Amino acid sequence: MKTLITLGSLLSVLSVASYAASPTNPDNQQINQGEYIARASDCVACHTAEGGKNFAGGLAIESPFGKIYSTNITPSKTHGIGNYSYAQFEQALRHGVRADGSHLYPAMPYPDYAKLKDDDVKALYAYFMHGVDPVDEDAPKTDLSFPFNQRWGIRFWNWVAADASPYQNDAKQSEAYNRGAYLVQGPGHCGSCHTPRGLVFQEKGYDHKGGDFLSGGMIGIWHAPDLRAGKGGALEHWSKEDIAEYLATGRNVHSAVAGEMTSVVEHSLSYLNDSDLDAIATYLKTLPGDGTTKAISTNEDNATTAKLVSGKYPVNSGERLYVDNCSACHFSNAKGAPRVFPALDGNSLVNAQDPSGLIHVILAGSTLPSTPKAPEALAMPGFGWRLSDEEVAKLATFLRSGWHNKAPSVSADDVATIRKTIPKSVLEADKPNVE
Ligand code: HEC
Ligand code: HEC
Ligand code: HEC
Repeated sequence: MKTLITLGSLLSVLSVASYAASPTNPDNQQINQGEYIARASDCVACHTAEGGKNFAGGLAIESPFGKIYSTNITPSKTHGIGNYSYAQFEQALRHGVRADGSHLYPAMPYPDYAKLKDDDVKALYAYFMHGVDPVDEDAPKTDLSFPFNQRWGIRFWNWVAADASPYQNDAKQSEAYNRGAYLVQGPGHCGSCHTPRGLVFQEKGYDHKGGDFLSGGMIGIWHAPDLRAGKGGALEHWSKEDIAEYLATGRNVHSAVAGEMTSVVEHSLSYLNDSDLDAIATYLKTLPGDGTTKAISTNEDNATTAKLVSGKYPVNSGERLYVDNCSACHFSNAKGAPRVFPALDGNSLVNAQDPSGLIHVILAGSTLPSTPKAPEALAMPGFGWRLSDEEVAKLATFLRSGWHNKAPSVSADDVATIRKTIPKSVLEADKPNVE
């Protein structure tokens, strides 16, 4: 008896081993690879509601057509994707087609995931079927108004707007370049935020063959800056190490992360290994500017600093507001302190054409993510309780024209618009409790 059992279990081990490479009968290595690619793809960010269970869906994503809810992608057979075959999963991920044949809204970034390699799609399937706990809960249903509730229309959008082919290695480039290009264009879907959108809301380019790729876009009120770090690019002055450090920790000598990118660093990029971070930086360093971005001078001394230090500025000026509220941390030269207080001179958020994100940070403050390589969640306090719309406008206008910065001025109306979107509890979070 005993020997039989042993033989039986030995046989079952053998048969599992021979199926190891198939996504329906995966081994641990394949499940781990899937978990890693799920991190790199940030599936959790969209498929988890605030305070909800991982991957159970229900996050409302704002789109130009209305609210689109992410769905439950846990392996629950009743509420999630537990009945999806591998082929159906692949169709949803790379082509935006659900198991029932209807089309997904491109709020799910399948036009970018179309670049995923077969091997990684299989690993993702293995992970979602065997490495994720099923959650038997319904996510709220998306209910757009006519004509946007007509999912068949998305088929035409796909013809015009999506470009569906897996990433092809460029034999002339290094291994690091190809790995980086793949991670950026495919799993990382960086272009879904950092590439400007066209007439039908499609990304203007899914790879570097077009000059618009990663040249800067908007995500809600947040400006996702130009990421081109090659010759003449906006990030030309960031070294490969600077880029990798920002992706892993949300901070480096030049900047600190705020807004929509905070969660990308926290839930996705801080999990990548050093060689993948280096690969992404290697790729971004090859993307040249298009001649419209002006390199930011890194010189220190200039007229703004001298004026602030001299104290010769009007009482009600942006300069005065800066000295009273900001310079203790960001300093008179606006260079801040590396990895602690971000530089505001040459900062992409300060210089964004649309000032909404900058106004939001001044009113509500901002907290850096805690990551394995930089666990301190350093925070900037909010000033919404203390500064009026008029004052924030003056301060922001000063920031956007001081030192080497060059961006249009900000009005009190701009500030009022953003203030309305921030809950009172957040605006007053940093108000001292004095009776
Ligand atoms: C930027 C947000 C976003 C990210 C990132 C994202 N998804 Fe989605 N996903 C959505 C939304 C929104 C829907 C529902 C769209 C709809 O209802 O048309 C969806 C739908 C799906 C579906 C169809 C499920 C069903 O109910 O039939 C699958 C499968 C899926 N996503 C898997 C993934 C996986 C795997 C990842 C990571 C590799 C991922 N998603 C990353 C937003 C996202
Ligand atoms: C959900 C939208 C979103 C996605 C996806 C996204 N980013 Fe960002 N990213 C932003 C926003 C918004 C900012 C601006 C942050 C700020 O102002 O502090 C930003 C900032 C950055 C910066 C700093 C640039 C600067 O000038 O300060 C880098 C570098 C960056 N992202 C790289 C990436 C890479 C690489 C990917 C893909 C792996 C990616 N991002 C994916 C929204 C996104
Ligand atoms: C107590 C120190 C402190 C004070 C005072 C302070 N800041 Fe900050 N600031 C920080 C820290 C820390 C961060 C990084 C937080 C983050 O990016 O999430 C930051 C981030 C920022 C950013 C975002 C930079 C980026 O790259 O995304 C801007 C803009 C900014 N501060 C402007 C100001 C202005 C304007 C004032 C004055 C009204 C001010 N700060 C006052 C500490 C401070």
